[in-house]
Amino acid sequence: MKRFIALMLALVMALSVVGCGGAASSAPASSEPASEPASEPASSEVAEEATPYIVIPEEYRSWDENGDPQQFSHAGEAGSAMVASSKYEASAIGLDILKNGGNAIDAAVAMGFALGVCEPFTSGLGGGGFMTIYLAETGETTFLNFREVAPSGATLDKYLDENGEFISGSSAYGGLAVGVPGEVAGLLHALETYGTMDREQVIRPAYNLADQGWTATTYYSTSVGWGYSSMVDEETNEITPMGEVFLNEEGLQPEVGSVVTNKDYAKALDLIIEQGRDGFYKGEVAQAIVDSVQAAGGVMTLEDLANYEPYETEPVTGDYKGYSIVSSSVPSSGGTCFIQIANMLENFEVYEKDSVEQIHLLSEIHKMVYADRAEYMADIKFTDVPLSGLTSQEYADKLAAKIDMTKAQTYEYDDPWAFEGDNTNGYVVVDEMGNMVAVTKTVNYYWGSGVLADGYGIVLNNQMDDFVYDAESVNVVEPGKTPLSSMTPTVVFKDGKPAMMLSAPGGYTIFSMLSQLFINVVDYGMNAEEAIAAARYLCAFGTLQYDAPNVDEAVFEELAAMGHDISATPGKRFSLPSLICFDAEGNITGCTEYEDEGLPLDGCALGY
Ligand code: GLY
Repeated sequence: MKRFIALMLALVMALSVVGCGGAASSAPASSEPASEPASEPASSEVAEEATPYIVIPEEYRSWDENGDPQQFSHAGEAGSAMVASSKYEASAIGLDILKNGGNAIDAAVAMGFALGVCEPFTSGLGGGGFMTIYLAETGETTFLNFREVAPSGATLDKYLDENGEFISGSSAYGGLAVGVPGEVAGLLHALETYGTMDREQVIRPAYNLADQGWTATTYYSTSVGWGYSSMVDEETNEITPMGEVFLNEEGLQPEVGSVVTNKDYAKALDLIIEQGRDGFYKGEVAQAIVDSVQAAGGVMTLEDLANYEPYETEPVTGDYKGYSIVSSSVPSSGGTCFIQIANMLENFEVYEKDSVEQIHLLSEIHKMVYADRAEYMADIKFTDVPLSGLTSQEYADKLAAKIDMTKAQTYEYDDPWAFEGDNTNGYVVVDEMGNMVAVTKTVNYYWGSGVLADGYGIVLNNQMDDFVYDAESVNVVEPGKTPLSSMTPTVVFKDGKPAMMLSAPGGYTIFSMLSQLFINVVDYGMNAEEAIAAARYLCAFGTLQYDAPNVDEAVFEELAAMGHDISATPGKRFSLPSLICFDAEGNITGCTEYEDEGLPLDGCALGY
């Protein structure tokens, strides 16, 4: 039977690259979020007729009455407080925490646990991340690192064949791909250090979401399809433990509008509520993670889990035209590269948006920033990183001087050491007191390593794929090391007052996209919604990619004539940001990304 189901599934997936139409037999009827548990808990992993813990209101639904994709407004306005995330349910939970007296950290932690439930393919208990925090009372900022580390047995040789060649896929799929997860320790550290609520208050909503269910949206259902190869064994056509949790009873991706649960994950959340970090890093959940990772060829041990520690460090900072940027330090490259881009841009006039000059300038800057990133950036506990050189204005001025505005060039990395001084799924939350939290967290690829902590419904990351498997690289894998990231949770100030908050998924494209959002607001006077909707450009590795539907094709012809290698990538947003902006009167506007590859996304900005 399972074999037949798997074959059916293969057929459906092959036919359905993006769409998941079909009638939504149980589209939620109410437009009010349910604040109390549904009276009839779902009785199976996929309960088509159940009521989800939170019903998505009509105006935030990415599907119509026929189950077909539809777009909605992802923008919001507020006077005092706001949350912006990629899922309505997570935003509603965060807003509820704020309205009930929690601060931005309480809300961010509650949203973090909730996102792991209803967007399990992007982040969750099996992953890790970063948090940039601003505390209004003291004016302090801090950067919390809860990214995965390499297990103690993860040596380079495990990823190389007998000829010393990298074994393709070994860092991306299966047990060796899994880094020691940091999310639980990180979120609990933030709560205990800066929050005001207890674990029951901030994690119970996520538990309820997992236990009673959430709604399969257009994007969610499609994403289950993207995880097909991890959900059905290609050789035997048997449904895998991951498929058992995320496919419906017919072995298919859940129908849009249906209610899905992850009761195994709810069990893990309950243990965390009860025991704190020990509920995850020790005992039955830890054992399940280690057993699942080792059965899939990995090397993680119980000791690796018990030893995991998140830590706080100084964020990296930079200035741009009177704005102060505070962002992620190493082991992320994101904040550093964001500031390097801004510093280089300060050397030039503000060219007309989407003009040949503006796109040329961005591409030349991207090429240099990505070259430096590859040469110098890695876990600072294992290698020296010239952080103050990379973020220094003088170094950026030197790089900017290499740019020829008439032609495209190629660039080697430069020497930031000479400029060293004495001294590195995103969502954003601001509360009434002015505390700000920007979080980016991830399991890396969609559906991570494809390995599930069996019995606990936890998708395990493949963050080991962010290492380089070359002994010459500063970012080479080493036991206990954290792989280089690009995640860029960022807060921005103007004259000491909050001006902007940005965060996004999108791997190595994150800081390039967020820095464009930043200049869209600062240089081009756009509001949050316009800044998100604007054209995007990326020139990370020599090819200028663009998603610019309203820009004249002649612009790109001219860029090609200047020597740019051009590739149109229509509908590819590269990165899917959440953005909050503050105006001088204290009004708050927010927005989340509208679409990815033509699919309507689920995010929203909610506030009061
Ligand atoms: N895994 C994506 C990042 O950390 O940048």
